[in-house]
Amino acid sequence: MTESLLIKPFRTPARGVAQIPGSKSITNRALILAALAEGETLLTGALFSRDTKILIQSLRTLGFKILDDEVAGTIRVQGMAGNIPAKEGSLHVGNAGTAARFLTAFLALSHQGKYAMDGDVAMRARPMSGLLNSLASSQTFAYTAEGKPAQAFPFILQTSGQLKDLTVDASASSQLLSALLMVLPLRAGASVKMSGETVSEPFVVMTEKMCAQFGRPLSRDTQGRWFCPNPGAYLSPKIYPIEPDATAASYFIALPAVTGKDACVRLQGYQPQGLQGDTAFAEVAKQYGADIRFEGDSAIVHSWSDLRGGDFDFNQFSDTFLTLATLAPLANKPTVIRQIAHTRKQETDRLLAMATELNRLGVKVEPSPEALQADTSLSSLTIYPSREALLKTAKKGPTSIHTYEDHRMAMSFGILGSYDLLGDGTPWIKIEDPSCTGKTFPRFFEALEALRSRFVTIAIDGGAASGKSSTARAVAQHLGLMHVDTGAHYRTLTVGLLKANALPTNIASVEKALAQFKLGSALRGFSSHCLLNGKIASEAEIRSPEVNAMVSAFAALPVVRNYILNYQRSQVELAQASGFAGLIMEGRDIGSVVLPQATLRIFLEADAEARRLRRSSEGQSDSIVQRDLLDSTRTAAPLICPQGAVRIDNTKLSLAEVVQEIEGLIAPALHVS
Ligand code: DC
Repeated sequence: MTESLLIKPFRTPARGVAQIPGSKSITNRALILAALAEGETLLTGALFSRDTKILIQSLRTLGFKILDDEVAGTIRVQGMAGNIPAKEGSLHVGNAGTAARFLTAFLALSHQGKYAMDGDVAMRARPMSGLLNSLASSQTFAYTAEGKPAQAFPFILQTSGQLKDLTVDASASSQLLSALLMVLPLRAGASVKMSGETVSEPFVVMTEKMCAQFGRPLSRDTQGRWFCPNPGAYLSPKIYPIEPDATAASYFIALPAVTGKDACVRLQGYQPQGLQGDTAFAEVAKQYGADIRFEGDSAIVHSWSDLRGGDFDFNQFSDTFLTLATLAPLANKPTVIRQIAHTRKQETDRLLAMATELNRLGVKVEPSPEALQADTSLSSLTIYPSREALLKTAKKGPTSIHTYEDHRMAMSFGILGSYDLLGDGTPWIKIEDPSCTGKTFPRFFEALEALRSRFVTIAIDGGAASGKSSTARAVAQHLGLMHVDTGAHYRTLTVGLLKANALPTNIASVEKALAQFKLGSALRGFSSHCLLNGKIASEAEIRSPEVNAMVSAFAALPVVRNYILNYQRSQVELAQASGFAGLIMEGRDIGSVVLPQATLRIFLEADAEARRLRRSSEGQSDSIVQRDLLDSTRTAAPLICPQGAVRIDNTKLSLAEVVQEIEGLIAPALHVS
């Protein structure tokens, strides 16, 4: 029996930061470019899936130093400036199309190399000939074990290290072209042109943009030939953040459409102007009624105003058509999805699969599944909404949705099933073989579950170097909370006050300076930073010895504390409006003064010696004991463990242990069962 998953409808508005994995296409391109760069590159937000692991392993086999940390989502690549250390080797690319194509072109850079290449049975059937034929013109040859020219996996690649004027037939896959584009800059005078057209143009654009991000922009001449005007090894951007997967993001753009009036989901790092063609889904969603706001580096999706059917061409971002198709039964008029013929040859015949499963729920579609079966050239789908038809089916019990080993079928029907159709939380959709999401999004259903949350406020207080910031930051990232370091607020004010020559002993000078200040907030990752007159003071400024020496004296003044209190409290609304699952604020008086009604209040402590060691290991000169004395003996909002707060002594605990303990305390309040 196949395993199945009953989808529990959302009875509370979806809220929180969607845990979207990194883009596979970007991760694998970045691995190749970083390996060809001079110096080290740290990839952050990377995807760890079968396909990316295959490429990492292959690069290691070829002698590249790569350190990966799956928990942190980072990959550290030591670039070799275009050199490939191993002149021989055996590589197995599984069924990873990107690894197969990218590595083959990459190896062509090796002078007189010889590599045995193989892949899964499915990979052996996938197109390679366009690329192999193209490389042959530059004396890099693929041949079979019997010594005959090879057109597909497996093959032995005998490389020349040269790249001349190449022509490629990329009609079967744009990856054949992308693979060559990425190696062009390494050989002066090399160029490539297509012999015909290619599919999935947006992926070629992605490759071009990434070559430029790694310092080697490509140009195209009047005949459409690509070349690199300034060739050489790629230049490491040092840190390269991988965008969250735009196709995966489409499910969380859709979720607020079906989960209540006050739904608010944050897509951290989602950029409409990013590298991925599937971000075009956001535009379609907006036409359909979505409320998507782009703020800073992220997107915030509120409940949709409407579900407005209409006519849409999904040709250029067809992976997302399933997301819209599963909302269509709830729309105000029919939805037509056009130009998706090529999806009939993907993981499954997606057009037929979608029509069949919507039909199973009682939804009328055209062409009907029978017509689709009879005529495989049909390329569009019209979905006729009917809540009554859905209800009629749902009243008979949950419908089992077949997923055809297609991760996108499982995920899109998972979103539809989140809709509380029966109005009492009764599940009405069951997903068969839910683990098929593993292809691109192994933790999809956990990510969905995590958005079933209630807004929480967490206060963390403690002395200097008690570990508040590192703990709060980690908890914020894991649980999708907005982090606020109020110590940084006082430090920022101190920077401003010192610049204005104010003295803590001269209240008038402090008042005069404060009157000139205007405070604001800017989100960077999960943290809200204080803007003083439109600027964020740098870390170096706010942690300078001068600021360390004066901050407690300024922070002890009631005039300073009153000045900042409302600003600090306003962070709650900012966190709410930005889609976070809650707020975690750290300081000295958060549980006692700023947020006495917080969902959870924590007091962190560690013995003085442990704290002194922590600060000095951070290379800071800071007299902690003195500051603590000032902070805890002042009359205005002294540092105390407020009544009812949970006291945690972390002297002997690792950061991970403290984080785990605190997350355990937050979980019952955060998760809606
Ligand atoms: O957390 P920190 O070391 O960066 O804080 C710097 C100073 O700011 C600290 O010595 C006292 C003051 N502070 C405060 O008085 N109240 C807070 N809520 C946070 C910090």
